Amino acid sequence: MEEQQLYTTREIRSMSKDCKFKLLAVVMKSSVKKDKNGRNYWDLGVMDSEGTIEGKAWSNAQWWDRRDEPLQVKEPSEHDELKDLVGKTVGLVGQVAEFKGQQQYNFNAVSLMNQASYPPHRYVQRSPVPEETLEREFLDLLGLCPEHLRGFLDFVFFRKNLWESFKDCPAAVSHHHAYVGGLLEHTVAVARMARSIVEAGAAAGYEADVSVTVAGALLHDLGKLEAYRLTPVPVMTVAGTFHDHIAIGYGKFESMAREYGLDERLFLALGHIIISHHGCREYGSPVLPATPEAMAVSAADEMDFRLFCWKNSVEQMEEGREISDFNHSAQRRFWRQESANGV
Ligand SMILES: [Fe+2]
Ligand SMILES: [Fe+2]
Repeated sequence: MEEQQLYTTREIRSMSKDCKFKLLAVVMKSSVKKDKNGRNYWDLGVMDSEGTIEGKAWSNAQWWDRRDEPLQVKEPSEHDELKDLVGKTVGLVGQVAEFKGQQQYNFNAVSLMNQASYPPHRYVQRSPVPEETLEREFLDLLGLCPEHLRGFLDFVFFRKNLWESFKDCPAAVSHHHAYVGGLLEHTVAVARMARSIVEAGAAAGYEADVSVTVAGALLHDLGKLEAYRLTPVPVMTVAGTFHDHIAIGYGKFESMAREYGLDERLFLALGHIIISHHGCREYGSPVLPATPEAMAVSAADEMDFRLFCWKNSVEQMEEGREISDFNHSAQRRFWRQESANGV
């Protein structure tokens, strides 16, 4: 790419119609489709350290292999290296367009970059919270649990050597916390919110076990370790697609609980939290939360997901806008409200 100002995905998302941009990013997904004239076009999803955008490279887009001397390629499907761009760093030249009132991005030129000079891991998004902060918060939460529970959590996360992959794992491929460290960030948030819910519930006369709630929250998405893989962008594995993280997580939990010799009542209580945490059958939980602890974890999980979608949507809005684009993950538009109490 010629030397010219590069933008980030965050800057591009707040650009208005017709603005032009250049971007270096890693391809998350790429699929070839047919336009209404039967010509090939590409749906591309790309990620940089500040977020993601999705756009289209129409049939008249230019494709370049810039790993050495720039070489223009007619059709990506005719060039081995451009056939599968997922996980590779690309340079994009594009323009903001509008379709049915929603912003759309057209990629007019796509360049495969030299991967040694532009290593993909440098361009992928990470949790905005520093890893050391999240690790300390996770350990603080673990420390709230009494010895018998703490011993089991320590066994799962540290003695079974899951910690290294747990702290890098994304929480999703696209809906929420879909970046390196996303699972740890989400898990800490869910455990904190679930703890607050049961503490507030206890003050209102609803007795619940805080440490079982916190332990269940720390374990609730354990299955994501095998449901997602970093390439370095998050992708869904075969097991994640066809077994789903709830079934995978329950299986992992059950085998580790048996190996550890976890007390049967705790096994049942924690297993119930893991398996019911999506809150309803349509969202993949075979049973509904039936204890205050499971209800708290499920509510906290939903709350963290919705708040993430809200924050992500309003941060992308241009100055002066109050209503966000439609958020497909949360199935709603969000409202960036002026301070309601005038402060
Ligand atoms: Fe989940
Ligand atoms: Fe979750």
